[in-house]
Amino acid sequence: MIEVDALSADEARAELEKLSAEIARHDALYHSEDQPEISDAEYDALRRRNLAIEQRFPELVREDSPSKRVGYVALDKFEKITHALPMLSLDNAFNDDDVHEFVARIRRFLKLDPLKPVPLTAEPKIDGLSLSLRYEQGRLVSAGTRGDGTVGENVTSNAKTIADIPTVLACENPPDVVEIRGEVYMTHEAFRALNERMEAEGKPTYVNPRNTAAGSLRQLDSAITASRPLRFFAYAWGEMSAMPSDTQMGMVQWLAECGFRINPLMQSHETIEKLLGHYRHIEKVRPELEYDIDGVVYKVDELALQSRLGFASRFPRWAIAHKFPAEKAWTILRDIEIQVGRTGALTPVARLEPVTVGGVVVTNATLHNEDYVKGIGSKGEVLRDGKDLRVGDHVMLQRAGDVIPQILDVDLEKRPEGAAVFSFPDKCPACGSAAVREMNANSGKADSVKRCTGGLICPAQAVERLKHFVSRGALDIDGLGDKQVEAFYEQGRIADAADIFTLRDRDARSLKKLKDMEGWGATSASKLFDAIDDKRTAEFYRVIFGLGIRHVGEQTAKDLARAYGDVESFNAAMSELHQPEIYEDLTAIDGIGDTVAIALKEFFTEPRNLDIWNRLLEQVQPTPPVQASSDSPVAGKTVVFTGSLEKMTRDEAKAMAERLGAKVSGSVSKKTDLLVAGPGAGSKLKKATDLGVETIDENGWFKRVGPLI
Ligand code: IVH
Repeated sequence: MIEVDALSADEARAELEKLSAEIARHDALYHSEDQPEISDAEYDALRRRNLAIEQRFPELVREDSPSKRVGYVALDKFEKITHALPMLSLDNAFNDDDVHEFVARIRRFLKLDPLKPVPLTAEPKIDGLSLSLRYEQGRLVSAGTRGDGTVGENVTSNAKTIADIPTVLACENPPDVVEIRGEVYMTHEAFRALNERMEAEGKPTYVNPRNTAAGSLRQLDSAITASRPLRFFAYAWGEMSAMPSDTQMGMVQWLAECGFRINPLMQSHETIEKLLGHYRHIEKVRPELEYDIDGVVYKVDELALQSRLGFASRFPRWAIAHKFPAEKAWTILRDIEIQVGRTGALTPVARLEPVTVGGVVVTNATLHNEDYVKGIGSKGEVLRDGKDLRVGDHVMLQRAGDVIPQILDVDLEKRPEGAAVFSFPDKCPACGSAAVREMNANSGKADSVKRCTGGLICPAQAVERLKHFVSRGALDIDGLGDKQVEAFYEQGRIADAADIFTLRDRDARSLKKLKDMEGWGATSASKLFDAIDDKRTAEFYRVIFGLGIRHVGEQTAKDLARAYGDVESFNAAMSELHQPEIYEDLTAIDGIGDTVAIALKEFFTEPRNLDIWNRLLEQVQPTPPVQASSDSPVAGKTVVFTGSLEKMTRDEAKAMAERLGAKVSGSVSKKTDLLVAGPGAGSKLKKATDLGVETIDENGWFKRVGPLI
């Protein structure tokens, strides 16, 4: 390969063209069901060469250059789609009184004869994500997510992979324009199967069916969406060039004729009592449904009345969602186990007699800390009327939406005789070291968390630290998930982060080769070793974050990597933190205070940590952060963004400006050099005008700084 410096312009142009096509092909292979042909390292090398050539020949940067796509696939991946009619959300009712008030409001608004019944429909509120499908001349032309209600994401090719969504309407003579709205969701069974697959592949699992459905629909590659069994219920419409029926019920039946699935639990009733009766029926059958629902939606059945009622700001006046109360269930507390976290925190976990709450079988619940078990909250408040939790107790469990199950109550009458008060251990169950509640320096009170003081000798902390090291935000090693880490630790294959990188070499010399272990083979083992090798050049901040130093989260790791630039400077500072100037340099970094500085000092004075860190650095060569450019048109300028931005999110705008060497501020002052104002800009725009600060719009911004790079 010719050195970049030796390339002629013609050669550079030809190579950039080749690289663009090649990288695009590898992107597609990577995203389509994880079938890359080259390793991440080889892929990175291609990108780096592309970038190096572009830096030498900026005038040759192609429109379709991979460098313009980098990092933005995830942020601005889908085209925007503007809904012909906005997709609104629903007002909520939390009890029967709210429902009575909803109907009374409708009657008042329409000045209806008190004797005239107002039929209303009732149907489950599906816990998925809404989608709007546009059909022209009976053919599906576009599909858009709700987005902010006005502008969503164009996910047409993904929607086409969902079997429940017809690409051609089945009904006779459909209107020219038909916009169908409904909910995309995933069944419990499909969700479980997918998570099992993810776990077996050592990939992170999903939290709940709703998030999974959303993530699956918003995949850049339709092949991935197609591999996820998504379903769709149709229940509403947007723009229609003609109306096939004059009632809600009639419209939904027509949707079925068109080939959509409609919810079988939808009914129409003339009295509130019957409506509420149906609500209770749906609530009763909820645990048996194969999908999540979080309430019942009532809608005025007559469409003429709907249009008279119209909309009040964000909600239609003719519909409301009657939410289910958080699900509760009684079960038995079988045991209280203590888990040891990465930083030594001892967390009590309730092992429960399995119980179904809201369609999900719950077997564990976190008990947070020692006080929580006693019936004391984090701010000293009384929990469960002060009742403590004892093994054998009958406890009431609550599970609401995404939140972790909580234990709300204890039935003291059913407490077994002789049930002992739970005594929180003062020794770590994993290593036997003392467990203590540290003093909180700020409040002067004992911390609510008890910690194992075993540090590096504690095997539980070691395993948790390893799990953290390979996790998504840190080294993100494919095929090395929690299960594999636990097994490798147990088998003595790895004890710390540095060992991961010598795994291949040691395995080659070992008699107990990984490929011969249960669940492994020659291919999967060598794939894992390759995945590990790919991370030898991981970004510097990931390696810092991966160390799992207390108080050093992902953002702090980024701040450190950016401030010190490379491993050598970072190490030089960390070994000299006892020197006041070096310590002060550290705390002068934006976002870093004494808590982090002390934690770093403690970490880097512990010989065993230093040993792991040095051995790790023999194996990995972290990639230093890309420094902000100094020759951009906004370098050194203070920029404020205000109003709504359309081409990028606020976070994206901030990151871009910082990358270009600008300082982003939240308020306008005399120091402001530039205001980027989108639609809806208010007081900041006025102030900037008063102060004579240069003001441009989003297009002006891109004109100045060039396209997204
Ligand atoms: S009707 C103008 N019916 O709930 C009202 N929405 O909180 C149009 N949803 O964004 C919505 N099941 O995603 C309606 N049976 C149902 C629903 C339902 C779920 C969702 C929908 C909407 C949200 C509003």
